[in-house]
Amino acid sequence: MAKEKVVLAYSGGLDTSVIVRWLQEEYDYEIIALTADVGQGEGELEGLEEKAIRTGASQIFIEDIKEELVRDYIFPMVRSGAVYEGKYLLGTAIARPVIGKKLVEIAEKVGATAIAHGATGKGNDQVRFEFAVKALNPYLKIVAPWREWNLRSRTDCINYACQYNIPIPVTAEKPYSIDRNIWHISFEGGVLEDPAREPDRDMFRLTCDPQDAPDEPEALSISFEQGTPYAVNGKKLEPVTLVEELNRIAGKHGIGRVDLVENRLLGMKSRGIYETPGGTLLSFAHRELEQYTLDRETYHYKEVIALKYAEMIYYGLWFTPLREALDSFVTATQKTVTGTINMKLYKGNMFVTGRESEHTLYNPEIVTFEADELFNQKDAEGFINLYGLPLKVKGLMDWQKKQILREVKKS
Ligand code: ARG
Repeated sequence: MAKEKVVLAYSGGLDTSVIVRWLQEEYDYEIIALTADVGQGEGELEGLEEKAIRTGASQIFIEDIKEELVRDYIFPMVRSGAVYEGKYLLGTAIARPVIGKKLVEIAEKVGATAIAHGATGKGNDQVRFEFAVKALNPYLKIVAPWREWNLRSRTDCINYACQYNIPIPVTAEKPYSIDRNIWHISFEGGVLEDPAREPDRDMFRLTCDPQDAPDEPEALSISFEQGTPYAVNGKKLEPVTLVEELNRIAGKHGIGRVDLVENRLLGMKSRGIYETPGGTLLSFAHRELEQYTLDRETYHYKEVIALKYAEMIYYGLWFTPLREALDSFVTATQKTVTGTINMKLYKGNMFVTGRESEHTLYNPEIVTFEADELFNQKDAEGFINLYGLPLKVKGLMDWQKKQILREVKKS
């Protein structure tokens, strides 16, 4: 009888190399490797095919999903304004559902009965992968070696690899757990586990130290059409190129570093360092444009929705009815979020210098300090009287109570 097939989310690193062998040993699966190119960077994809086959996979798919990731996941996230716990631009979290979706697609294509991944049992990523798979094909079995085997550390993995003659990637001591894609890079673990300790200067990859950034500010403009960015400095760019270009510019000015102690879904707090250069510019510019074009109530309500949207991305709840419903709301709000934000970048900071939009609700004729025809200042009196009535009623009551107390004390 033919072996059952499993599709493994494969990076070519030590962990997933060991997993290929372990799946054969423990489950007797035929292993199909899937590497999703999410923009993890030069070198990461080189020689993967050969490596996967040598390690024991029967086949490898290398799928470039950058465009889908940016267009269908990252840009909707930007439109929603989602930021987790005030700081994290969700770079790892947003890529997991689309990788999960690819795992399911390949599994269906090759007739696999299971998927496997190398996420650990303590993190958010296992949840995100598996929620995606459950939502899209609940019949697939899920194998998560880190939750099953008795390898406990990187050293255990190296020993396992030596024992089974698995070609291990020649990388030096791995000081951090790193996840990189087109939107961000994250660092956790190692010396970073001490939240009192500042990260080493040479850890960063996508941004320079703001101290070393150019001494001259740089002007930059980003244009949006219905909340979706489409041009940088007046030049139209495809989604992937646009993000890459903004990464380059922001990185040069040391923009987009975050150091965060965050609440994981599984209950513990963890410390992470993130670099999201282009994303930081995009979310900043998008918010500026919304402040310029949205009416007050929609803008305020959207801020509430953004919190929920961020939580859902972080928790891996992308393929859910609620996330889709929130998305419909967000899309409806973006009809007028069209225009350009001009800014200046300087040593880790960005400053808005100008806004342009045909849809702005900013009306100088109304707000002006000069004489105007449109706004009758007398109206403000009635507004204050009515809107302030509850305060006044309460104030009267308090006043009466105080009077009574005074009388009592006197007598
Ligand atoms: N803490 C972040 C998150 O949960 C980053 C996770 C990084 N993942 C990794 N496998 N290194 O989204």
